Amino acid sequence: MKILGIETSCDETACSVVEDGVKVLSNVIASQVELHAATGGVVPEVAAREHILKVVPVIERALAEAGGEWGDIDAIAVTKGPGLISSLIIGTCNASAISYVMDKPVIPVHHIVGHVYANALDAGSADGLEFPSLVLTVSGGHNEIILMRGYHDFVILGETRDDAAGEAFDKVARILDLGYPGGPVISKVAIDGDREAFKLPRSYLEAGSLDFSFSGLKTAVLNEVKRYVRENNPDKEFGNYSQIGKLLPDKFKADLAASFQEAVCDVLSDKLIQAYLNLQEEGTHAKEIHLAGGVSANSRLREVMTAKIAKLGAHVSDDAPVIAPLLRFPKSLEYCTDNAAMIAGAAYFVSDSGKRLEKAPSNIAPTTNFDLF
Ligand code: KG4
Ligand code: ZN
Repeated sequence: MKILGIETSCDETACSVVEDGVKVLSNVIASQVELHAATGGVVPEVAAREHILKVVPVIERALAEAGGEWGDIDAIAVTKGPGLISSLIIGTCNASAISYVMDKPVIPVHHIVGHVYANALDAGSADGLEFPSLVLTVSGGHNEIILMRGYHDFVILGETRDDAAGEAFDKVARILDLGYPGGPVISKVAIDGDREAFKLPRSYLEAGSLDFSFSGLKTAVLNEVKRYVRENNPDKEFGNYSQIGKLLPDKFKADLAASFQEAVCDVLSDKLIQAYLNLQEEGTHAKEIHLAGGVSANSRLREVMTAKIAKLGAHVSDDAPVIAPLLRFPKSLEYCTDNAAMIAGAAYFVSDSGKRLEKAPSNIAPTTNFDLF
């Protein structure tokens, strides 16, 4: 079954053709990063205008690269939300128009469900994942810990209460005057930094909570920057701190970026391991642990999770031998950040390999609803 997926939830115009949920035949992404770098973040109106210009050529290219004709496509998948409503509507309108003109069914896909299935693209076959799996989704707008009991059988165990991890990376990069998007640049700068240079807070919330909160960490970074700037510029008055990143030396930025990244990785990985151990206590042994979403591209997060999972294996007692779960993250960085292959792949599973598919063409409106299904 070949599905053409369209993703326009934020600032990437993307289209992909995927066969049977996992075989990527084409994956075209028109990034708007350069456009939004000028403003240090996404301006929704600017993003929507760019989607309008790019969406048709991107769809045409994805279809051509897949070597196909419209006749070969069984269904159109589209991100229905959450995301920027003015961006989403470009994708859903195009999906609806194609649906009517080409007489194809539409499969609406939740953006985060798409990120979750990005790991299935690497699994190689439609039954390549093993369940139960524990999934950490870490994006610019969302953080969730999800127990995946099977394909299309999700239980949310924890979620973000304020800033998502990616958002924290973006805001800290802005404070340090490192540019946009923040995640890749912080991880690059942090390579030369000392992770222990700053004692930054780790917010674990109430005992046993699997929810996340990163807004306090972001404020702690800002306070360190203000302190440094005041100490080093005693004769200067700062009415507004928006430009102070420019006054920071590279070593200070590298140390603070590394300390910040470490705090985020500690909380994400500790909570994920806690979720795994909680399930184990209840008699559920997660066979796999997945990282998904833009922040899963972070090499330090991958490293920390790999080390912590290896330790789980060492916890094994003789009478209860437990095999450490398999850690998955999208091998290709383009499957971590927003892409349409994950949407076309997810659509296959969401529709139960086409069995639960509304066959008639349909008009799909974007939704701001955060419910996964
Ligand atoms: O999943 P995604 O592409 O979009 C949303 O659904 O929000 O995630 C984007 C986020 C951005 O905040 C970006 O800074 C972050 O992912 N990101 C990273 C890295 N690459 C992208 N964060 C940390 N390390 C990275 N290497
Ligand atoms: Zn995303």
